[in-house]
Amino acid sequence: SRANVIKVGILTVSDSSFRGTDHPEKGTRLRDTITSIQSAKCSVDILDFVPDEIEQIKAKLVEWSDFLQLDVILTTGGTGFAARDVTPEATKLVLEKEAPGMTLAMLKGSLDITPLAMLSRLVCGTRNKSLIINLPGNPNGAAECFQLVWPGIPHAVDLLR
Ligand code: MTE
Repeated sequence: SRANVIKVGILTVSDSSFRGTDHPEKGTRLRDTITSIQSAKCSVDILDFVPDEIEQIKAKLVEWSDFLQLDVILTTGGTGFAARDVTPEATKLVLEKEAPGMTLAMLKGSLDITPLAMLSRLVCGTRNKSLIINLPGNPNGAAECFQLVWPGIPHAVDLLR
């Protein structure tokens, strides 16, 4: 029910974060943003990192959905046009249903903030009882997108439970 806390996982997708050479704090910054906005409703139960490798991204998404049964799985990073950006492709491979409305909500709101939002290829959808949401890698962009998509999340989680 809605009274239950929403269990969230944050997967940082980044070669440099994985190696620990750059922005290893990305996922923790997104966690702080979520808990500062929605601490009453969300608990961030797991944070992890993977490099920009399609099989490693897929494996985490499947594990967090099928075995950890998280309500919401947020990815951050790897949504752009660079050769190594494969997060949307990995996400599509594990989704059962796409949620283009959630993608549109983030794109529409983000374009009012920066035209560079057009360079993000965010994918959202469901697998089992989990809602999977791609966010951009920039910590401010990830926080902006989370806030834009948040209004739909509690009801989506209710529908999936
Ligand atoms: N969306 C929002 N709301 N705010 C941002 O700062 N940055 C953009 C875009 N989306 C941004 C944003 C930029 S500069 C890029 S390159 C793309 O997200 C893809 O980022 P990624 O490859 O780190 O996922």
